[in-house]
Amino acid sequence: MAEILDGKKLRDKILLNLKGRIDKYDKKPSLAVILVGDNPASKIYVNNKKKTAEQLGIISQVINFPENVSEAELLNKVEELNNDNCINAILVQLPLPKHISKERVINAIKPEKDVDGFTPYNFGRLFSGVEPIVYPCTPKGVLLLLDEYGIKIEGKHVVVVGRSNIVGRPLSQMLLNRNATVTICHSYTKNLAQITKTADIVVSAVGKKIIEGEMLKSGCVIVDVGIFKDESGKTRGDVDFESASQIASYISPVPGGVGPMTIASLMLNTVELYENSFNF
Ligand code: GUN
Repeated sequence: MAEILDGKKLRDKILLNLKGRIDKYDKKPSLAVILVGDNPASKIYVNNKKKTAEQLGIISQVINFPENVSEAELLNKVEELNNDNCINAILVQLPLPKHISKERVINAIKPEKDVDGFTPYNFGRLFSGVEPIVYPCTPKGVLLLLDEYGIKIEGKHVVVVGRSNIVGRPLSQMLLNRNATVTICHSYTKNLAQITKTADIVVSAVGKKIIEGEMLKSGCVIVDVGIFKDESGKTRGDVDFESASQIASYISPVPGGVGPMTIASLMLNTVELYENSFNF
């Protein structure tokens, strides 16, 4: 039976430590979140981010725009936040409505305030093997979780399922930079099970039920980044926990695995950007 990679426990440890770091500052770090439209999942994520920030003493504001906001209006807001010395971290919650170019909006964020690490500057650094100012939150959370449990990455075959800009792509680069052998699988991959069978570590970030125990090598490590509601309304991940936990040595649950780590990483990134701002 696999050991649980407990994201809640590690999140609490990180946040406690971070609170001590923030308490030392008279002027507090500040995070601005732009939320467009009424996507229910995005609203929940943004509320969680705001609540956690406030518990730590990070000043946070959520700027809500209606679904039909123009791209120009969003770009103006980003520019205003870029120039506001009281704001040191900017996050544009994704997804954005189809009529808005997410590339243009993200590209408008000053890299020094890019708390997601999604701007071309930060992404480009990551993809050329150079440290970005901060690392994208979910991939950073995955690596913090693996490190906490002493799971070695160097020389391991890591199979990343999913190639999103939020998780799969940046995580693959971070693993590569840590000397893993990385295979990226996606919706066009043939014989997924044949590939996952050879993995020492499987990270699944797809958002649908895709990984079963019989697709895994005995003793492997499973990180489940997927999160969605099944037909009965139950929150679940990409991995069939029952069967996978019989085969794996470690497994992250959903909920309580990677989700809490994403929030912890966002808080860490906010404080890192704040501390960096002393040097600019
Ligand atoms: N939507 C889902 N995950 C994320 C994330 O990490 N950052 C942003 N900005 N939007 C998201």
